Amino acid sequence: NTYVIIMAGGVGTRFWPFSRTNFPKQFHDVLGTGKSLLQQTAERFEGICPMENIYIVTSSEYKDLVKAQLPLLTDDQILLEPHRRNTAPCIAYASYKIGSRNPDANIIVAPADHIILKEEIFRDTIRVALGATHLNDVLVTLGIQPTRPDTGYGYIQYIPDKMTVKKVKTFTEKPHLELAEQFLESGEFVWNAGIFVWNVQTLKRAVKKYLPDIAELFEEGEPHYYTPDEIPFINKIYSHCGSISIDNGIMEKADNVHVVLSSFGWSDLGTWKSLYEISEKDENENVVEGTVLLHGTRDCIVKTPKDKLVVINGLEGFIVAEYDGVLLICRKDEEQKVKELVAEAKDVD
Ligand code: GDD
Ligand code: MG
Repeated sequence: NTYVIIMAGGVGTRFWPFSRTNFPKQFHDVLGTGKSLLQQTAERFEGICPMENIYIVTSSEYKDLVKAQLPLLTDDQILLEPHRRNTAPCIAYASYKIGSRNPDANIIVAPADHIILKEEIFRDTIRVALGATHLNDVLVTLGIQPTRPDTGYGYIQYIPDKMTVKKVKTFTEKPHLELAEQFLESGEFVWNAGIFVWNVQTLKRAVKKYLPDIAELFEEGEPHYYTPDEIPFINKIYSHCGSISIDNGIMEKADNVHVVLSSFGWSDLGTWKSLYEISEKDENENVVEGTVLLHGTRDCIVKTPKDKLVVINGLEGFIVAEYDGVLLICRKDEEQKVKELVAEAKDVD
């Protein structure tokens, strides 16, 4: 009765030029394990739910990539969006589809681009969260102990009781820096891991209440899911569908959000800094991948093709990254600018 929705339609702009519109980071073998982040994500749920209950939601342009990387999935398990509408429509689509066949499904929603080092602990945490969904009408999210005032995450303030599944007081998606600093100092907040667990009925109720236009669109799809009409129907409704994240659209507003505090070696590989943080460093705090000779260089991340010799002298605090014909050299502490730089480099986004 448990299903997994893997969200795999993002572009990963902040991780450019490694992550590209035509080949985003979730399809890369980022850690050199022989498996892409998407493949690792799917495998992580082994033992939690059968393969046939794993659904991928992605942009229609990545259909072939997903099929090649997860050849055991059927077409019914690969949901194709004609336009990017952020995570709320993505989750609503898959939930209404799953719910049309299994009205009592428990659903785990997971991003396709996270690193989780302690997989066994992760599965235990998921089981705890699943335990809470069935009897109570709750939206459960997983919380991560914050280590810096990162403005790229959602912040969750919870009631600090002894329960393993804690009631959430406030949910603030991507606060500005000052607020993030206050949250961190107060010690009352955890980061939203972006991994959600709920019963399909609870989710549908929340979509109806907070995003009624989106609920209406996907409800109308109920006769079409799992039929040849599904694709034309979806293509039609996505042009009328608003773009909003699940975090802004539901989690910030709902009053039945709960959190399970977790520590399973989580990292959202969203930016160069996050790759830097989880990677092994040399004696000068550099992270190096490629054929690279460094002199007097500190605190850099260098990721370049193996067949190119890169020699660097006297560089500090920089990202040097080359991938598929694009070389990026950017100050590490200005990496949030990468998004703007990509916009400038239109043809190679
Ligand atoms: N199918 C589909 N369609 N997937 C999408 C879309 C879309 O339009 N937009 C994003 N995704 C996928 C991304 O590929 C990623 O796997 C996941 O949904 C989350 O989207 P991000 O764009 O990476 O979100 P974020 O990192 O800015 O913020 C979310 O995750 C943080 C933790 O990593 C939020 O949930 C934050 O609250 C959270 O802290
Ligand atoms: Mg992300």
